[in-house]
Amino acid sequence: MDSLIKDLEFIDNRTPEQAASCDTQVTKEVNTGKSRKLYIESYGCAMNFSDSEIVSSILFEDGFDTTSQIELADVVLLNTCSIREKAEQTVRNRLGQINYHKKKKPSLVVGVLGCMAERLKKTLLEEEKIVDLVVGPDAYRDLPNLISEVDGGQKAVNVLLSREETYADINPIRLNSNGVSAFVSIMRGCNNMCSFCVVPFTRGRERSRDAHSIVREVQNLVDQNYKEVTLLGQNVDSYHWSSEDGIENVNFAQLLEMVALVSPDLRVRFSTSHPKDITDEVLYTMKKYDNICKYIHLPAQSGNSRVLELMNRTYDRDWYINRVDAIRRILGEDCGISSDMISGFCTETEEEHQDTLSLMDYVQYDYSYMFFYSERPGTLAARKLEDDIPLDVKKRRLDEVINKQRETSLNRNKRDIGKVHKVLVENFSKKSDQQLSGRNDQNKVVVFDKKHYKKGDYVNVFVTDCSVGTLFGEAVD
Ligand code: SAH
Ligand code: SF4
Ligand code: F3S
Repeated sequence: MDSLIKDLEFIDNRTPEQAASCDTQVTKEVNTGKSRKLYIESYGCAMNFSDSEIVSSILFEDGFDTTSQIELADVVLLNTCSIREKAEQTVRNRLGQINYHKKKKPSLVVGVLGCMAERLKKTLLEEEKIVDLVVGPDAYRDLPNLISEVDGGQKAVNVLLSREETYADINPIRLNSNGVSAFVSIMRGCNNMCSFCVVPFTRGRERSRDAHSIVREVQNLVDQNYKEVTLLGQNVDSYHWSSEDGIENVNFAQLLEMVALVSPDLRVRFSTSHPKDITDEVLYTMKKYDNICKYIHLPAQSGNSRVLELMNRTYDRDWYINRVDAIRRILGEDCGISSDMISGFCTETEEEHQDTLSLMDYVQYDYSYMFFYSERPGTLAARKLEDDIPLDVKKRRLDEVINKQRETSLNRNKRDIGKVHKVLVENFSKKSDQQLSGRNDQNKVVVFDKKHYKKGDYVNVFVTDCSVGTLFGEAVD
């Protein structure tokens, strides 16, 4: 979400360490002359980035502008991730750096939000002396009260999880956005119990947001000229909302259709799909609407059925392959497919690791997010299985998985050469302001000469060349 932040393409020269690390995002400046300033940093997955926009909105109503300069802040919040040990270590290191600012400005309020807050609860206050505030993902409405408690000289904690909270009525402040694409949360929590995963403990039970509030938010974005939305959830295919009177029932395929109908000019993406839940109905809805992007993030985690069972993923290799075949049959060979993979899960043998490589050969993923297994306290795997694969073996297997992915990414990208792709421009390219960068339907990054085009345009690009992570081409009028 971790790796749920899917706009980071598979980068050519990522080392295993980089591939296993989390992405960080700092919010932009919102200056409306309010009396206090909030600085918020987000770690982990897109759900967290989206939550930070909700937090900023709640605190905006309570008298806070946001700043991108930590020196100007009255309140510093880190919205944290617990998915792997390294993600938590990154946050602890960052708290060490923030200590320097707190020494210069003792009134500075320092808060930890998100998954680490939920996992560690008040022990965080004992372990990290600099922290004043610990707030879990379902308690953000309480932030104004909690901050006043801290202003009054106390430490404050609220880590209550909820079965209902979806923040449906809160209009997020689009801090992380480029003005072209935005995240929209459609559900929270997760009811699966993958044995390696901490998310069910940090995010609580699954609940789906009111379908009409989602459509309203999307309409609002279209009115502000946004061109792309990504519907977010840990397992979007199990989205299911019923109205209070029970008359309306909306599943994910139906929600997708409702969102696609908001505007034919709006691209619709979603993440993440669980292989056990993705239905043909969803695939046919994708086929029916041109503006639903033909790209599916379908994390396999492993290509071996015994390991998948230990992971408690509730599907096996054959089931996964059947879902990939359905995607190819209904949406065609060009539909983008990506995955998450974990190397060196408990008891994984060399042969079972080879099964992951052979699955990658079979599927020909456009890209993958790849990690070595990191045991998380309290999870089923930590309680029942031995983390017995030595670190050097985990890393070597991960390297092999990354190399395999580079190979299939390049194969897939070469197929795109000589074709025209519809690209939604997001920004200048990283290397030159004479070039623009955007993504095609399949979520691949495409770079081309700027000419008269600008951010937010749809441009037809004839692809002439590629690397592992990027397509290169020329705009055709
Ligand atoms: N809900 C999504 C995944 C969210 S977590 C899904 O079910 O696919 C994002 C990814 O982090 C997971 O897909 C998995 O590949 C990885 N991950 C989760 N826990 C991990 C752990 N303990 N060690 C290594 N990688 C992990
Ligand atoms: Fe974690 Fe599994 Fe839920 Fe994904 S589906 S968030 S991997 S428990
Ligand atoms: Fe996301 Fe990390 Fe939490 S991946 S749900 S922020 S543990």
